[in-house]
Amino acid sequence: MPGLERVFTVTRNLLNNCYCIVDQTRPGEAVALYHSLQKDIEQNGHIMFVFNGAYNPLGFIKGKINKLHSDFLTSEIEFLFVDKKYQSAGIGTSLIQAYEDFCRKENVQKISLYSAKTVQARAFYEKHGYVLQNVNYLMSKKLER
Ligand SMILES: CC(C)(COP(=O)(O)OP(=O)(O)OC[C@H]1O[C@@H](n2cnc3c(N)ncnc32)[C@H](O)[C@@H]1OP(=O)(O)O)[C@@H](O)C(=O)NCCC(=O)NCCS
Repeated sequence: MPGLERVFTVTRNLLNNCYCIVDQTRPGEAVALYHSLQKDIEQNGHIMFVFNGAYNPLGFIKGKINKLHSDFLTSEIEFLFVDKKYQSAGIGTSLIQAYEDFCRKENVQKISLYSAKTVQARAFYEKHGYVLQNVNYLMSKKLER
């Protein structure tokens, strides 16, 4: 069914489709990413949302909550990809909003990420309230309750 889905269990089919998306973006890293995603979701409790098209996932977001300091929870977005053919159509926005809503419910106070060094990625994150922190493209956002 088209639309947003929280993925609790990674299926081979789903990752194969995500693999295709990733493969278009960073060819050399696709196989390693496939295996690390599978492990993080199945064994390490990471958070993943997928935006499904009629036949394939069109994009996904993956990150984790850092539970080291229970009084100040932070989260890190590690991957956000939208299939090239479907970019600028609001899918990235749906994914990051779902991720932020999930984090708010978990009482996360701050989300960080390393932005890709492209105008497109930087503009996207700034539009969603992320502020550049340093020259390494670290960006963060404080979540309002
Ligand atoms: C960055 C990315 C996740 C955004 O997802 P998206 O679905 O294309 O974005 P949305 O349609 O929800 O949001 C649109 C906003 O993103 C930015 N944006 C998207 N495409 C852009 C482009 N080609 N040039 C400049 N800004 C762009 C703009 O701020 C735009 O806002 P506007 O529509 O008001 O102009 C997606 O383009 C992508 O996967 N890019 C390649 C991989 C990548 O850079 N990932 C981030 C790694 S940290």
